[in-house]
Amino acid sequence: MTSVQTYRLVSIPGDGVGPEVLAAGRRVLEATGERFGFRIAWDEVLMGGVAIDAYGVAIRPEDIQVCAAADAVFLGAVGGPRWDDPNAAVRPEQGLLALRKALTLYANLRPVSVHPALVASAPLRPELLQGVDLLIVRELTGGLYFGRPSEERTTAEGRSVVDTLTYTDREIVRVVRLAFELARGRRKKLTSVDKANVLSSSRLWRKIVEELRPEYPDVEVEHRLVDSCAMSLVTKPAQFDVMVMENMFGDILSDEASVLAGSLGMLSSASIGERRTAHGLHGLYEPGHGSAPHMTGRDVANPVGTILSGAMLLRWSLGQAEAAAAVEAAVAAALDAGFRTPDLLRVTADGAAGLTPVGTMGLTDAIIERLVAV
Ligand code: NAD
Ligand code: IPM
Ligand code: MN
Repeated sequence: MTSVQTYRLVSIPGDGVGPEVLAAGRRVLEATGERFGFRIAWDEVLMGGVAIDAYGVAIRPEDIQVCAAADAVFLGAVGGPRWDDPNAAVRPEQGLLALRKALTLYANLRPVSVHPALVASAPLRPELLQGVDLLIVRELTGGLYFGRPSEERTTAEGRSVVDTLTYTDREIVRVVRLAFELARGRRKKLTSVDKANVLSSSRLWRKIVEELRPEYPDVEVEHRLVDSCAMSLVTKPAQFDVMVMENMFGDILSDEASVLAGSLGMLSSASIGERRTAHGLHGLYEPGHGSAPHMTGRDVANPVGTILSGAMLLRWSLGQAEAAAAVEAAVAAALDAGFRTPDLLRVTADGAAGLTPVGTMGLTDAIIERLVAV
């Protein structure tokens, strides 16, 4: 008797809408397993506000170990107003940063494309969205997020504060190299985003891109300053293919880019490093959005970002490319069939004819129905 392939995944529901969208993502992965003949053994870990309430810390060291031992980690979102006191020593987001750092997930991949069925209801003019298909490669374990010192101080002149933006050349080289490689597999264009007119860190970043460039003669390279690049992202988004940038620039530009896809709820992400398991790269998969506190418990959050993150998990960490493509096709089919969560239901001049308003669960059901119907 041959045994069924079983993958070990860690589920981290987190806070706010996190548990709702992650439940949707898990259901889709389970359905994929049934169709493609694999099983998933789940471990569940508390992280974020729920972990602070339960243990007094945003994630426990032993739970980081559970994540490290699994094939991949699937996350909802963390944070919320209950834990937002600026004087608090312990914050939900610390759990996520600790996990990314401990697992050395130095690259966060955030693909942004426009589903044809959503063009009409997008906030941008339809002609701007033609041909949009970009990939943001965000450095994830360095820069302002991790530089020390980072603290408020009391001085004779009053309060002062410091955050530190630091990078080693090795940290920049590995993420830029990955971006070059990814560009090679796509339209062969790399946009490196920086603030080299002001920041030393950006000038080293730019030098390193230039140093690596001769190794990738087939890739067209451009350097863009982050401020005007933010403008181009919504005025001429189709010009971008792979975009690589430091941690905080990537955080900001990726939420901006989600407008192209119709909603922040559509954005998926994969955080990966160098570590491999028996099946692929070890990684953490989460939607681009946060815990959307005002949507919590109302069955209104769009689950697509999480479900598409699940597809990335299948592709990058489990080597299940066919299953990943099936999930993506099922999402596209459900959108084509007119199913819309409230964020995607902007009524246009043509009205909302032919569209079916649904909640988180309803859209997930519509996707699963199309996933299993082959
Ligand atoms: P957010 O991403 O939670 O929400 C911003 C807005 O985007 C929402 O008001 C909503 O209009 C829209 N949105 C987000 N997710 C959606 C979904 N699934 N479907 C439809 N619309 C959606 O950002 P915020 O309000 O600035 O932050 C709330 C909390 O989330 C904060 O505590 C923040 O630290 C945390 N956060 C966590 C993560 C993460 O866990 N990876 C990411 C971002 C923010
Ligand atoms: C994200 C989030 C996180 C970040 C926060 C919650 C720490 O905004 O994943 O984009 O800034 O990286
Ligand atoms: Mn963010």
